[in-house]
Amino acid sequence: MARINDHYRKLTAGYLFPEIARRVDHWQQAHPDRAGRIIRCGIGDVTEPLPAAVRAAMHRAIDEMGDRATFRGYGPPTGYDFLRRAIAEGDFAPRGVNVDPDEIFISDGSKTDCGAILDILACGPADGGRANRIGITDPVYPVYVDTNVMAGNTGPAGPDGRYAGLVYLDATVENGFTPPPPDGPLDVVYLCYPNNPTGGMIDRAGLEAWVAWARRHDALILYDVAYRDFIRDPARPHSIYEIDGARTCAIEFHSFSKNGGFTGVRCGYTVCPRDVAGRSADGSHVPLHPLWTRRWSTKSNNVAYVVQRGAEALYSPEGRAQTAALIDHYMGNARRLIDGLRDAGFTVHGGEHAPYVWVECPPGTGSWATFDRLLDEVQVVVTPGAGFGRCGEGFFRVSAFNSRANVDAVVNRLSAMSTVRA
Ligand code: MLT
Repeated sequence: MARINDHYRKLTAGYLFPEIARRVDHWQQAHPDRAGRIIRCGIGDVTEPLPAAVRAAMHRAIDEMGDRATFRGYGPPTGYDFLRRAIAEGDFAPRGVNVDPDEIFISDGSKTDCGAILDILACGPADGGRANRIGITDPVYPVYVDTNVMAGNTGPAGPDGRYAGLVYLDATVENGFTPPPPDGPLDVVYLCYPNNPTGGMIDRAGLEAWVAWARRHDALILYDVAYRDFIRDPARPHSIYEIDGARTCAIEFHSFSKNGGFTGVRCGYTVCPRDVAGRSADGSHVPLHPLWTRRWSTKSNNVAYVVQRGAEALYSPEGRAQTAALIDHYMGNARRLIDGLRDAGFTVHGGEHAPYVWVECPPGTGSWATFDRLLDEVQVVVTPGAGFGRCGEGFFRVSAFNSRANVDAVVNRLSAMSTVRA
């Protein structure tokens, strides 16, 4: 009989968003009369259609695939050069950052890569065999935690849901949801800015402190910038590589899901600079770029040509203008949520450089209890903060990915719930 990966059995709950969907389905079945009123502000899934430039590029690519002269079979395992070049020129050069196209690895999204990166790092419990000491901020995008559990990098979860062996860095109101580096060393740390779920955003000095810490301790920063294009302040770092020295200590994950509306199309990319290295069991320093390349060429043929042509179109002048309009729309929603919920008496954080608004629950009310109340009383689905970690307890997240009409309805409905306010 096949042996299973027992580490999966340590996972304390289903993945957060399917779990929320399950609860909402259950509620809808029990309340068919009000099921149609539900407004979903839980998972950060885009609502607006694909930009016209993307659709046109994908149509053209489909036609190429229908013609023997231009048909393409297997693509390069790390992505087509046309897209890697467009990214280097479009996302990095304008900010004075030198990333070579060859350091860009196309993928089906940053969620996938945040998990897959563990393929090239030592796995196993940090105590005992002493693999990697791994740090995560709390609250956190659950993928970072769950993939480490699955890979066997943790012990079991404790009563507070925290897994033995992970180092949790508390992101709180007091530190602006941007915890500073720890005093001691770690081997790997996950950072996400603009932050999911709190909507917080790090400044240049804060990121410089992290890079200096990583260099001091020979640590690797896994930097997730899935929400990069939502940063409204040009002075804030849009890439960790804007910080001197980051090329030696950071891998960066990007997504087209939220800026280009690709949650259903699937495309993103990861930057693995040639200068970043890890340590082998024999103590030697080994560059990660060849390992990551090898991983891709063995495990994948990358995403469809048609999809990569669609992503390339995001960098065309039309694509840029259409993407900017999408982001303006969602950030306009975030502004309305912040203002409307504050006017209604809620204490609200985030939403300035991210499409997520992080709201304090009424004193003494847990975040799952608040989730249940909002669903039951006003049919608004949010994400309970506790689903993102112990420090998320006492908060709920409202996604700004929605139509303007729905956002206005959410503000009106929550404003009418006088007793739910903090
Ligand atoms: C979220 O809601 O946190 C994200 O949409 C989830 C994801 O990107 O996988």
